[in-house]
Amino acid sequence: MILRLALIGFGNVGQEFARMLLRKREWLLSSKGLDIEVLAIATRSKGSLMSERGLDLARVLEVEKTHGDLRHYGEGSLDITPLEMIDRCDADVMVELTTLDIGSGQPAIDHISYALRSKMHVITANKGPIAFAYDRLESLAKSMNMKLRFEGTVMDGTPIFNLAEKALQGCEVIRIEGILNSTSNFVLTEMSGGRSLDDAVKEAQRRGIAEADPSLDLDGWDAAAKISVLANVLMGAGSAPDKVVRSGVTNLSPDDLTAAAREGKKVKLVARAERTESGVVTSVSPERLNCTSPFWSVDGTSSAVTLVTDLMGNITILEIDPEVTQTAYAVLSDLLLIVEWMRCNEP
Ligand SMILES: NC(=O)c1ccc[n+]([C@@H]2O[C@H](COP(=O)([O-])OP(=O)(O)OC[C@H]3O[C@@H](n4cnc5c(N)ncnc54)[C@H](OP(=O)(O)O)[C@@H]3O)[C@@H](O)[C@H]2O)c1
Repeated sequence: MILRLALIGFGNVGQEFARMLLRKREWLLSSKGLDIEVLAIATRSKGSLMSERGLDLARVLEVEKTHGDLRHYGEGSLDITPLEMIDRCDADVMVELTTLDIGSGQPAIDHISYALRSKMHVITANKGPIAFAYDRLESLAKSMNMKLRFEGTVMDGTPIFNLAEKALQGCEVIRIEGILNSTSNFVLTEMSGGRSLDDAVKEAQRRGIAEADPSLDLDGWDAAAKISVLANVLMGAGSAPDKVVRSGVTNLSPDDLTAAAREGKKVKLVARAERTESGVVTSVSPERLNCTSPFWSVDGTSSAVTLVTDLMGNITILEIDPEVTQTAYAVLSDLLLIVEWMRCNEP
């Protein structure tokens, strides 16, 4: 089977996914009978590429590494928008890997809607669209008989949605709790060793964990987007980042953390989604945890999520020190599930 892809966004995740396709090419052919071609790549400022025969991914990666601009690829180089690219290319799957916009989820929501309407399956690692517009996008996908997958949006490649969909069929998710933001978790871990917030943030930036502007993480916005994704998909919450009751870690001092330690506790930024009589309430706030918490040993850049279910009790999934490879793997695993679905639904 030849599967044709179009990529919107070719940054860290897009490039790692391209390297993964090259690395797993033989395995995909021999084990899955899959010949994956990337027909098009669109970026915001570094040009776009299209080829009906499929792009030479090794060369695309080389051009990106050498020039930082896809226009140096030569033949197939264009200056078109992502929507024009969708119009002009005959891909089976569109992979959306653009930057998160925490205020609206755009323009990724438009990219995804347009691709679904153009009869393309969609995979994204961008949490914005699922945090802001999951219900709308999922019902559009269903009405077009297309699949929308997003395993990389919350815990990189660690399976949460695939686990819930495949292995927990029939279970109702009653509550979700998680340590979902690696930067704030790293900062809190450093502060509990006596470092100031500023020093801890600088250390996170030095190690490439925190962005130059870490406020999205420290103010709890990233965790708010992730708990919205989880609550929307697993609890039908209709949440959005701006509906999450939110407080971050910037008001905490090392004294708060050492005082907690004296009482045998740790302070962590915990995201929650809980069913109440008035619907699902989502929140992000620092909490004092004791050593019986499943999150006690979730330090540094690790993260964890607990699903509280009616039939399977509490299931905690731990992800230790993720790298970009895991997020690229989420895209590949979503792709394989779409192929499985396509094969089952072939006319
Ligand atoms: N990195 C991770 O480990 C990780 C983990 C989980 C989830 N994610 C999510 O995955 C997505 C991609 O992450 P990343 O690290 O690859 O980001 P990145 O390195 O910043 O790359 C983003 C890419 O998207 C392109 N882009 C941005 N806005 C665009 C637009 N309006 N139209 C077309 N292209 C656009 C950028 O083009 P220009 O370079 O021209 O601006 C760039 O190619 C993000 O939503 C991120 O939150 C990342």
